[in-house]
Amino acid sequence: MLKKYITIGAEDTQKLGESFAEEILNSKENKKAVVIGLHGNLGGGKTTFLQGFAKGLGIKEKILSPTFVILKRFEIKNGNFYHIDCYRLKNHKDILELDFKEIISDPKNIVAVEWPEKIKKALPKNFTKIQFNSIDEKKREIIFKNVI
Ligand SMILES: Nc1ncnc2c1ncn2[C@@H]1O[C@H](COP(=O)(O)OP(=O)(O)O)[C@@H](O)[C@H]1O
Ligand SMILES: [Mg+2]
Repeated sequence: MLKKYITIGAEDTQKLGESFAEEILNSKENKKAVVIGLHGNLGGGKTTFLQGFAKGLGIKEKILSPTFVILKRFEIKNGNFYHIDCYRLKNHKDILELDFKEIISDPKNIVAVEWPEKIKKALPKNFTKIQFNSIDEKKREIIFKNVI
C-alpha cells in the first residue's frame, strides 16, 4: 500500500502526523510493537511530522530534534513511544547497546526511527516506511509505504 501527500508548511505536516497517530492507535494489535522508519534528507520534516504524531498519541511534551540524544522515551496510554534519531550513529551496533532489540520486541511500544538506513541490520524485516522529499521551502512530498 502506498499513500502520497503534499504538505505546505510545518503545521500541515504536523497535522498529517497527528492523524497518522490516531490511525495507528485505532489499528494497533497488541501482539507486536509498531515500528516506523522516517527516511529523507535533513530538513525534510521528519521531526516536524513526529511532533504531530506525538500529539496524536496524547503526549504533551514537545518532540525536539535532539542534538546529542539518540533515543527518547515518552509514556503513552498502555505503553511507550520511542523517538530514535540515528543521524549521528556510525554503526547499527551502537543502537543495540541501547536495548533496541528489546524495545522493538515489546508489543506495548510504538517506535519511530529517523534515518533508519543507518541501522538497517538492527531493524525488523517488515516495518512502515515514510519518505520525506523537499519540493521547495514550504512544500514536502510525504509517501507512506508498507503501512502495517
Ligand atoms: N511542509 C513542511 N513540512 C515540514 N517542515 C516544513 C515544511 N515547510 C517548511 N518546513 C520547515 O522545514 C524544517 C523541517 O525540519 P525537521 O522537521 O527538523 O526535519 P528533519 O527531521 O527531516 O531533519 C522545519 O524548520 C520546518 O519549519
Ligand atoms: Mg529530525
